[in-house]
Amino acid sequence: MTGDDRAFGVYIHWPFCLSKCPYCDFNSHVRRAPIDEARFLRAFHREIAATGQRTRGRTVSTIFFGGGTPSLMQPATIAGVLNSIARQWRVADDAEITLEANPTSVEAERFRGYRAAGINRVSLGVQALDDRALAELGRMHTAREALDAVAIARAVFDRYSFDLIYARPGQTPHEWASELGRAIGEAGEHLSLYQLTIEPDTPFAALHKAGKLKTPGEDIARALYDTTQDVCAAHGLPAYEISNHARPGGECRHNLVYWRGHEYAGIGPGAHGRLDIEGARHATANEKRPETWLMRVEAGGHGLVTDEVLTREEVGDEFLLMGLRLAEGIALDRYAALAGRALDPERIAALHQHGLVETTPDGRLRVALAGFPVLDAVVADLAA
Ligand SMILES: C[S@@+](CC[C@H](N)C(=O)[O-])C[C@H]1O[C@@H](n2cnc3c(N)ncnc32)[C@H](O)[C@@H]1O
Ligand code: SF4
Repeated sequence: MTGDDRAFGVYIHWPFCLSKCPYCDFNSHVRRAPIDEARFLRAFHREIAATGQRTRGRTVSTIFFGGGTPSLMQPATIAGVLNSIARQWRVADDAEITLEANPTSVEAERFRGYRAAGINRVSLGVQALDDRALAELGRMHTAREALDAVAIARAVFDRYSFDLIYARPGQTPHEWASELGRAIGEAGEHLSLYQLTIEPDTPFAALHKAGKLKTPGEDIARALYDTTQDVCAAHGLPAYEISNHARPGGECRHNLVYWRGHEYAGIGPGAHGRLDIEGARHATANEKRPETWLMRVEAGGHGLVTDEVLTREEVGDEFLLMGLRLAEGIALDRYAALAGRALDPERIAALHQHGLVETTPDGRLRVALAGFPVLDAVVADLAA
């Protein structure tokens, strides 16, 4: 298997933002009243303890504070959560501990505090290096502020990454190549590059439906994707996952836990987890609404609303769905062990013939460059 097969990640969700971006459907909420962080910390502590009891003996290899906007948390709250984690599990000496941050100046000022609390990697939501595009995306920072935050991240942390959104309305491959080139000049070992998705029930979906927001058509979207691959590869940042680029060794180890089908605990409102308990894989999901999650944890010690054992077929399907996003692909024998059946060699051969998948020299199956734009169809075909 590629990677450490005992990898165990802990995901902590902070569900608040200063404002809601019109494209975003993450579990993030805007509250007028100040957030009672001490109350949240007590609830995190209880939920971590409840999860720890079910997963004794694990060594935590990665921790990820995601959101929402976890860079709105006080460094002391982050330190408290990390203490709770260390009381439940052994934390590996080289554990990767990431915090997602918004690139406003206020939040960047806290970076030293986060490092002192134990964070060793930040991932910044830069989104665009163009002020007009940032305004259209409803962002509360300028490109200058974002780049200043990146510079602070670079000075404070050994490892940092930032996100950009492309395939924005009116964007041409030429403009994107130049913006991406500038971004790479500011990048360290890792970049996340997401194609703008119109998520249902967001303000962008309503504008899109009304014809007031035009996203690039299929051909331009494909050209933008190809530009992304070419520019990044030429600068030593190849895609190791469909939207994530890194210099070799700079990959986000926490996200690799998901994509390689390893185990992770989901803590906080709306967090998901995958836990292996007594030989069965459990899919867990927490109550999404922050206040309801708090009340559930305070009453019962955890915020779980779903805790179901997956069938072998479901585990196999999930392994395909996640693993085939990776450039390294999947080991066929691991699929067979998880799913209880091998993939159909005839289907693999047909996909090979169409140039959509390829086999690596060490026998792994991976999606070919031509297959990534139709990844969902490839996975559906193999899983059928
Ligand atoms: C949950 S956000 C957290 C980061 C942080 N709150 C911020 O916005 O700076 C993670 C990333 O998802 C991406 N994202 C969110 N909604 C998206 C959409 N509809 N299409 C493409 N990317 C999206 C953005 O790049 C964002 O930085
Ligand atoms: S993109 Fe980030 S800041 Fe904007 S609403 Fe989503 S989580 Fe919050």
